[in-house]
Amino acid sequence: MNLIKNMLVAPAAVLALWAATAQATTAEAIAERLKPVGEVCVMGEECKGIEAVASAAGGGARTADDIIAKHCGACHTAGVLGAPKIGDTAAWQARATNGIDGLLAHAISGLNAMPPKGTCNDCTDDELRAAIEKMSGL
Ligand code: HEC
Repeated sequence: MNLIKNMLVAPAAVLALWAATAQATTAEAIAERLKPVGEVCVMGEECKGIEAVASAAGGGARTADDIIAKHCGACHTAGVLGAPKIGDTAAWQARATNGIDGLLAHAISGLNAMPPKGTCNDCTDDELRAAIEKMSGL
């Protein structure tokens, strides 16, 4: 009777050990896969992930050229719908009866076919002003 009992217990123990090991491995593998991307960044070390997020959010690092290329150029390069062309200072000058401030006010509010903020909805007033100055040469 005892012999039979031992024969049953031993394999059961092996089986239990195997199951526990298998489970641990799986749990580790899952934890690895579930790791948030940010966790691979180590403090004091360069972190590509955070850099990408910062630049996607604007980060204040974009230049007037960036804004013009991304937003204003679509219309102002070729003068679509009567938009004053980039570099055509005379055309901009004729509109600047109230100086850059007047141009900026229209850029913010929009003017006929000119969309409010020139489609750059997250542009600050300063960024818009810089883009206008660059496009107009004023
Ligand atoms: C969808 C086309 C379009 C885009 C994009 C666009 N503009 Fe314009 N913009 C126009 C048109 C058209 C006019 C002329 C509007 C009119 O006088 O009827 C204009 C006029 C202007 C003027 C002159 C306003 C005035 O007082 O006469 C400024 C300044 C200006 N745009 C700035 C910008 C800036 C800065 C951007 C980018 C952030 C931009 N625009 C993007 C079409 C566009």
